[in-house]
Amino acid sequence: MVTQGGNISNIPLFVVFEGADGVGKSTQIKHVEKELTRLGYKTVVSREPGGTPLGETIRAIVKENFDLYPWSEFYLIQGARIEHIGKVIEPALRKGYIVLVDRFTPSSLVYQGVLRDIGVDEVLGAIEHSQPNLEPDLVLVLDAPEPIGAFSFSSSDSFERDGLSSWREIRTTYIELSQRFGWTVIEADRDESHVTKDLITAIINHLKTKMLLEQ
Ligand code: TMP
Repeated sequence: MVTQGGNISNIPLFVVFEGADGVGKSTQIKHVEKELTRLGYKTVVSREPGGTPLGETIRAIVKENFDLYPWSEFYLIQGARIEHIGKVIEPALRKGYIVLVDRFTPSSLVYQGVLRDIGVDEVLGAIEHSQPNLEPDLVLVLDAPEPIGAFSFSSSDSFERDGLSSWREIRTTYIELSQRFGWTVIEADRDESHVTKDLITAIINHLKTKMLLEQ
């Protein structure tokens, strides 16, 4: 782990996991956290909306209210995000942790920007004006042609309750925006351990590049 000129296990990295529901994000984050810990890295795991007490309250509000104006939905989630960045993510990065977050600004571009029709550039502009604001080092998009395994759409999630047609639009939007924003797409409908291996490889390669750039 110790390399010439520095210790790779102390390089902070902000990694975001994205994708439509039912592609194994939460499971993979657990596997990745376990593997990184085994390899000697310090990790913090969090999620959006959520990650702070206020964020978890906002999560419940957003998930339960199906009739919010798109911009209200965006600003509630963005408010939770500002607290999350300032109180959880940035402090952990300052201590040299790898921060693994289940959803972040890419979700706002996909769900509020496209699904809710605000516009990707409009959402991006609002995010960029917020303070604190933070760009992920690495966005990993888990992709599958269909929801994986025993996944069933929840009637209590305002996007999932629209079923497979919304799901397909979410998937396509992730693929399109990945090309525009340089997100890394990982095939998720494979043996779980192969998916985890690819995620770990992407993270460690990014850490190595970051370390070289910072030397
Ligand atoms: P999940 O954590 O179970 O995936 O649920 C989070 C829900 O919140 C999901 O439907 C996507 C939605 N969401 C947005 O609409 N915009 C966002 O910026 C984020 C982070 C999540």
